[in-house]
Amino acid sequence: YGGIIAILVTGGAGYIGSHTCVELLNAGYEVVVVDNLVNSSKESLKRVEEITGKSLRFYEVDLLNRKALTNVFKENNIDAVIHFAGLKAVGESVYKPLEYYHNNITGTLILCEVMREFGVEKIVFSSSATVYGDPKVVPITEDAPLGVITNPYGRTKGMLEQILTDLHTANEKFSVMLLRYFNPIGAHESGRIGENPKGIPNNLLPYITQVAVGKLVCLGVFGNDYDTKDGTCVRDYIHVVDLAKGHVKALEKMMRDPGKVDIYNLGTGIGYSVLDVINAFEKVNDLKINYVFKDRRAGDVPACYADPSLALKELGWKAEKNIEDMCRDSFRWQKANPNGFEEENSDIVVRKDGSVIKK
Ligand code: NAD
Ligand code: WQD
Repeated sequence: YGGIIAILVTGGAGYIGSHTCVELLNAGYEVVVVDNLVNSSKESLKRVEEITGKSLRFYEVDLLNRKALTNVFKENNIDAVIHFAGLKAVGESVYKPLEYYHNNITGTLILCEVMREFGVEKIVFSSSATVYGDPKVVPITEDAPLGVITNPYGRTKGMLEQILTDLHTANEKFSVMLLRYFNPIGAHESGRIGENPKGIPNNLLPYITQVAVGKLVCLGVFGNDYDTKDGTCVRDYIHVVDLAKGHVKALEKMMRDPGKVDIYNLGTGIGYSVLDVINAFEKVNDLKINYVFKDRRAGDVPACYADPSLALKELGWKAEKNIEDMCRDSFRWQKANPNGFEEENSDIVVRKDGSVIKK
C-alpha cells in the first residue's frame, strides 16, 4: 500500500458510521460514504468534515441500486469496505420482516457482488451481541454458542455473519471482520454528531436524554423483577467513539493479516443495570430523570455483557471511556441538537417543556 487507502463506508451518515468516519479521517484514510439517508441526514457528514477539517466523498445511493453502487466503485479506488448500512429497529422488524430481510440481506449480497466485480476483498461488518441470544454465561466470549435470536432484525445479523463466512470459504483471500457490538451510546465530545432517532426512541439512552431535555415526560423502565442485582436488565454500554476506534483497529488488523474470518466483541466488559445508567446520568448531568417501572419488554434478556479481551489481545483495542463520559456526551449532544440534525435547516424549535414554536 503505497498511496492513500480509500475506505468505503456504507451507512456512513448514520450514528456509528459518522463517528467512524471521524476516526478514519483522523487516521489519514480517504473516506467514501454510501448512504440512502433512510435513517440519517447528510448534515452529519458536513459535521464530520467540520470536526476533522478534512473532506470525504458522499454518494446518496441505496445498496439495492446495483448500477449506482457499481458507479461508486468505478469512480473510486476502494481498498476495503466498512459495512454499516442496514435497518436496525428491533420492534419494527417484527412487523416488517420482508423490508428488513430485503434491505439488510439483499443489500449486503449486492454489495458483495459489486466488491467481487472490482476485486475488493476486505469487509468489516456491523454485527451485534444479539447473535448470542440469551447467553448462558456472562461475560460472553466470542466462542460462546450462538443463541436463539428473537426478531427478524437480529436474524439478519446472524444470517449475514454466516453468508460472509461462506464467502471466505469460497475464496480464502476474502477477509471478513465480524464486529459484535454491545450497546453503543454517547456522542462525539464536540456535541456536533450523535444519535438521532426518528420518532419516539426505542433505545434507553435516547429515551433518557429526551426526558432530560423535556421532549418526553417519563421513562418507562421495562421490568424490575429480573434476576439481577437490582431487578433491572444489565447491559454493556460502550461509548460510540471507542466503538468507532475499534473499527480502525479492525481495519488495520485486516490489512496486516488478510484472508481471515475474525470475530470480536466490542464492549467494555462492564455490565450496568438500567438503574445504574439512570443514576450515572443524573449524577454527571446534575438533574433528575422521571421514571416509572413497567412490564418486561418482549425479547429482552436479563444480562448481556462482553468479555472484550480478544480484541485487546489481537487488535490492541480497548474501550477507554466510562459510563459518566457516555452519559455526559449523550446529554451534551441532545441539548445542543434538540431536533437532531434538522435544527439548522428548520425553523421549528422544540422548547424545554416540549412545546413547539416557529423561529
Ligand atoms: P443508523 O440507522 O444510524 O445507521 C445506518 C445507516 O444505514 C443509516 O444512515 C441509513 O440511512 C443507512 N442505510 C440503511 N439501509 C440502507 C441501504 N439500503 N442503502 C444505503 N444506506 C442504507 O444505525 P447505527 O446505529 O449507526 O448502526 C450501524 C450498523 O450497526 C447497523 O448495521 C446496525 O444494525 C449495527 N448495530 C447497531 C447497534 C446499535 O445499537 N446502534 C448495535 C449493534 C449493531
Ligand atoms: C437497554 C435496556 C431495556 C428503553 C438493542 C438491540 C440490540 C442492539 C442494541 C442492534 C434494556 C431497557 C430500554 C426504555 C428501558 N442493536 N429500556 N426503557 O435491547 O439491550 O439492545 O440495541 O444490534 O440488538 O436489541 O438496548 O437500549 O433498547 O435497552 O427500560 O424505554 O434498557 O429493557 O434492559 P437492547 P436498549
